[in-house]
Amino acid sequence: MWRLSQPALTVGLILAAGAAGQTQEFADADVENGQAIAVGTFEPSPGGACFRCHGMEGAGDGAAGFPRLTDQAYEYMVESLREYASGERPNQIMQPIAAALSEQEMRDVSAYYASLEDAPYPPQTDVEPDVVQQGAILSAIGAPEEGIQACVNCHGPEGIGLPPTYPFIGGQHATYLRQQLELFRQGERQGQNGIMVYIARQMTDEQLEAAVQYFASLRPEGVTPEGESRPVTGAAPPPGIAPIPEDIPGVD
Ligand code: HEC
Ligand code: HEC
Repeated sequence: MWRLSQPALTVGLILAAGAAGQTQEFADADVENGQAIAVGTFEPSPGGACFRCHGMEGAGDGAAGFPRLTDQAYEYMVESLREYASGERPNQIMQPIAAALSEQEMRDVSAYYASLEDAPYPPQTDVEPDVVQQGAILSAIGAPEEGIQACVNCHGPEGIGLPPTYPFIGGQHATYLRQQLELFRQGERQGQNGIMVYIARQMTDEQLEAAVQYFASLRPEGVTPEGESRPVTGAAPPPGIAPIPEDIPGVD
C-alpha cells in the first residue's frame, strides 16, 4: 500500500521539514571538526581522509566511482556512515573508514559536506537522446504496469533528493548510480524496507541504463554543460512537482 500512500505523505513531511530548516542535530554538529576529518588532520586519523576520494568540495570522482557528497542530505549521510560501520551496507572501502568514526564524528563530517555550497560538476559526457528520454519517463511516471514507481515520488524533481530520507541522484556520477542499482538488484544493499531492491529488480537492463544516463546527465539549474557550478545549499531543497514531459511515446 505504501506505493500509493507514501509519496503524498513524503511530500507533506518534506514541506514541514523545509519550513523548519536544518534539524537541531545538524545545527549542533561541529563543521570545523568535520572539515578536519575530511582533510585527515584529525587525530587519531579515522583511516581515510575523505578528501582523497570525495574531494574537499565533495565533488567525488566519476571515473573511480566515488560518489558526489555535496548536495546530499545531512541525515542521509549520517545514516549511510552508520550502515557502512555496522556492515548493513557492505563495502570494503567505506566499512573500516566509517567504523573508525564515532557517532559525533559521523555527524560532524556529514555536516561539513552537507554545508558546502559550490562543488563543481564534471562536464557532461555525450548522452544518447533516446536513452535519456526513456530515463526521463521512468523518472516522471515510472512504469506502473511493471510495478516501477516514478523516481520523482521519492527522489524529488530532477532527482534533487527529498531530505532527510531520500538521496539526491540528479547529477550523481553514472558509474556510482549504476553500481548502486546493481547492488540493490543483487540484494547486497538492502536499504530501507527493501524499496530499492524491489524497484531495481523490476527494471530491465535497458531501463536501468536509461535511468543511470538520465540522472547522471542532469545538472541543477544554473549549471552549464561544461560543469560550471551554481549556488547549492546544504538545506532542504524546495519541494516541487516534476514537470511531466509533454509527449510521452505510448502514453495517452
Ligand atoms: C578510498 C576512497 C574513499 C575514502 C577515503 C572515503 N570514501 Fe566514502 N565512499 C567511497 C566509495 C567507493 C563509496 C561507494 C561505496 C558503495 O558502493 O556503497 C563511498 C560512499 C560514501 C558515502 C555514501 C554516499 C551515498 O550517496 O550513499 C558517504 C556518505 C561517504 N562515502 C562518506 C565518506 C566520508 C565521510 C569519508 C571520510 C571519513 C569517506 N567517505 C572516505 C570511497 C571513499
Ligand atoms: C518509494 C520511494 C522510492 C522510489 C519510488 C525510488 N527510490 Fe531510489 N531510493 C529510495 C531510498 C529510500 C533510497 C536510499 C537507500 C535506502 O536506504 O533504501 C534510494 C536510493 C537510490 C539510489 C542510491 C543513491 C545513493 O546515493 O546511494 C539510486 C541510484 C536510486 N535510489 C535510484 C532510483 C531510481 C532510478 C528510481 C526510479 C526508477 C528510484 N530510485 C525510485 C527510495 C525510492
